[in-house]
Order: sequence, then structure tokens, then C-alpha cells
Amino acid sequence: AFPKQVRLVEMSPRDGLQNEPGDVIATEIKTGLIDRLADCGLSHIEAASFVSPKWVPQMGDATDVMAGITRKPGVRYSALTPNLKGFEGALAAGADEVAVFGAASESFTRKNINCTIAESLERFAPVVEEARKHGIPVRGYVSTVMGCPYEGDIEPAQVANVAKALYDMGCHEISLGDTIGVGTPLKARRMLEAVAAHVPMDKLAAHFHDTYGQALANLYAVLEEGIGVIDASVAGLGGCPYAKGASGNVATEDVLYLLNGLGIDTGVDLNKLVATGEWICAQLKRHNGSKVGQALGGL
Ligand code: HMG
Ligand code: MG
Repeated sequence: AFPKQVRLVEMSPRDGLQNEPGDVIATEIKTGLIDRLADCGLSHIEAASFVSPKWVPQMGDATDVMAGITRKPGVRYSALTPNLKGFEGALAAGADEVAVFGAASESFTRKNINCTIAESLERFAPVVEEARKHGIPVRGYVSTVMGCPYEGDIEPAQVANVAKALYDMGCHEISLGDTIGVGTPLKARRMLEAVAAHVPMDKLAAHFHDTYGQALANLYAVLEEGIGVIDASVAGLGGCPYAKGASGNVATEDVLYLLNGLGIDTGVDLNKLVATGEWICAQLKRHNGSKVGQALGGL
């Protein structure tokens, strides 16, 4: 049965912008985006990433972004924190939630955070421990849940292992990332069933990239299974033009249109969201990757 409500977790300020080519985007554009997203009714926004600026130059102003936003009551502003150094930055910046990010594939873990899966879990444990001391909830990501750019197919059991490790460590929510958007609905369902045998369904989120145009179909499949949290990015922002196989998260406007049609409540205003997608695309001089944004934009 479908859930009655879905929480949308907005990814565009982080996943959407982290790979944007060219000059580093001005902090004011990032904070302008985040404030507009909050005004749309989104209650959970991934606002920044406290990672190495050598690895991800676009996120180098994370502290300034967190300081520059206008905090809307009831909105959770979260940040990526791969290690204790990142956690300290996020804590000082007043993040409401932090997130550690691992993967179900060894090769992807090495390329993304420069360690093995086992080492990544060892690094995350003290982050979760410190966060607990400060009463900050920790989200856990698992990447490459339906395929890896280096290893191809990924076993659902391997996804379940990493998801369970993060959940047992104390992550309050596990977000399952189809990083390169290769999944299809039956695969998504099988993967989710394997994970949900070890982590409660209401602690899971779907984080699907749309590289192969399958993200909405995959979301429909996991909604039927009872997924109640969906990660998405306005205008489908994200992806790296230099890396074949990387494209943005599913567009938030498209997910919202689907959920509205299913009668599932989100608390998000579609018209404002479409306007926000158009605004950020104009700022970045970028194509709007949302079909719904294209259909309803400029009206
Ligand atoms: P490393 O080089 O192995 O780590 O990087 P290190 O501890 O040896 O540190 C190297 C340098 O980085 C040092 O500086 C550290 O101080 C600095 P130096 O001495 O050379 O001047 N450093 C940091 N600086 C700022 N903030 C930090 C930090 N930590 C170390 N937190 C590390 C390891 C994890 C840091 C690096 O690999 C990294 O930053 N990776 C970032 C990867 C990333 O951001 N990927 C994108 C996000 S994940 C994603 O998009 C997937 C997701 O959307 C889900 C999905 O779609 O599947 C979540
Ligand atoms: Mg992602």
C-alpha cells in the first residue's frame, strides 16, 4: 500500500551543485536557492557538504552557506560529513543533521572517499558517536545500490550489509542511492526487500539518480513497498558532464507531480517549486532537467 505522506529531502544545494562545472558558484546563489526551497514547504534540505575542498571545490564555502541562510522554523538543514573534521565544521556551522556516506561497492568507496568499506565504517563510528553527544541525528547513505560504474551489478545482500551496519551504528535513516541511475523497477523492489529485512522500512529513503530515465518508475515501485522518504533535486540539478554515467537526482518537481497524482501528501507547493527550478536554472544558465518544470514553467 502507498504511504499517506512522503517526506521529500531536497538535494539540489548539495548533490545538485557539488559537480557543477566552471567557476565556483557564488555563496549568495546557494543561500538564495536554499531559502526559496524552504519557502516551497520543503522541510528537509541538504544544504552543504563538509568535505575536502580539493576533492569537491564547489562545496568549499559550506560554512558561509550555513551562516548565510535564513533559518525557517521546522526546516531541517543537513550537511555531509565524511569524517570527524567534517563533523566539527558542520557542528560549528549549526547543521541540524549530518550525514555519513558509504557505498555497497569497494571500488566506488575507494574512488569517492579513498578507503575500503570496512575503513569507511570505522571512520563513521566516531562521527555518529560525537553527533550523539550533541544530540544531532545522523543520516547514512549507501551508494551504488543498483549498480556501480566500476563493478557493474551489485548484490542486494551487499547493500543490506552496509545499510544494516550504518543503522546498527546509530544512523536514524538510511538513504539508498542509485548513484548512476541504472536501476529498473523490479531490481529496485528486490534491493529494497533485501534491505528492509534488516532495517525497518520507515527508516529507509530512496535516493535515485535519473541517468537512464528510470527514476520515477523505480520510485513508484518502492512507494508500493512502503518507502516514505524520497530524495530529489529541483530541476534535476546534478551530474557531471565529464563523467559518463553521472546525472542528477530525479527532479523534485517530477516526484511531487507523481505524488500529488497518487494523493500522497508532502506539504510542498508545486508552483513555487517550479518557479524555484526556473530561478536556479537562470542563475546557472543551465537547462531545466525537470519535465514538469518545462511543462509548467513560464506560465
Ligand atoms: P583523504 O585524502 O583520503 O583524507 O580524503 P585525509 O584525511 O588524508 O585528508 C587529506 C586532506 O583533506 C587533508 O588536507 C585534510 O585536512 C583534508 P591537506 O593536509 O592535504 O591540506 N580533509 C578535509 N578538509 C575539509 N573537510 C573535511 C576533510 N577531511 C580531510 N571533512 C575524504 C578523504 C573523505 C576527506 C575525501 O575523499 C573527500 O573529501 N571526499 C569527498 C567525496 C565527496 O564529497 N563525494 C560526493 C558526495 S557522495 C555522493 O554524492 C553520493 C550520494 O549523493 C548518494 C548517491 O548518489 O549514491 C550521497
Ligand atoms: Mg547522489
